[in-house]
Amino acid sequence: MTKIAVLVGSLRKESYTRKVAKNVIDLFPSGYDPEIIPIDDLPLYNQDFDDENTLPEEWTTFREKMKQCDAVLFVTPEYNRSVPGILKNAIDVGSRPMADSVWKKKPAGIISNSPKNLSGFGANHHLRQSLVFLDMPIVQQPEVYLANITTLLDENGKINNESTIQFLQTFVDTFIDLIGRYEKA
Ligand code: FNR
Repeated sequence: MTKIAVLVGSLRKESYTRKVAKNVIDLFPSGYDPEIIPIDDLPLYNQDFDDENTLPEEWTTFREKMKQCDAVLFVTPEYNRSVPGILKNAIDVGSRPMADSVWKKKPAGIISNSPKNLSGFGANHHLRQSLVFLDMPIVQQPEVYLANITTLLDENGKINNESTIQFLQTFVDTFIDLIGRYEKA
């Protein structure tokens, strides 16, 4: 079973981003186990905790969980043209100690969304910048920017049109192909 960690960049109860993540989870075939990993309990990153080995239990649990995953799917809204702090904090927590980063060589996919026209482009690319530094191979094409997300979801949080579903399926298939290439490497 290939385990995919799904990290969602919003804590909002009715988050569109989480709804998108759940739709995408449903598009993975059997043999893949995508799971939303909670990041809301992670204390803010503080280098002292690593340097003095006084690690919050939540960090250790998160790092262990992430190490067991084969790949990571990031689904994010945009905050102030960038990555929401909650998601950046999880990335920072997982990145240290540097030699033991949970991200290194882990295939990644990025989906951004927004209720507005710009589709979270800024968040998507700031996230991409961090993942390049963290040495994660990333799905390059198709890039997934979901603009006007409220028009794409029905009242049950399901994507309401076949062309978006097909597009996301193409993205998932490409992500799986990338994961397969790294599993074999
Ligand atoms: C936003 N929002 C927003 N939207 C956008 O397209 N670009 C942006 O830069 C921002 N900036 C921003 C900052 C902060 C602090 C908040 C709270 C919101 C609006 C945002 O896209 C909207 O609230 C979404 O609904 C957030 O995603 P979830 O929570 O629905 O997943």
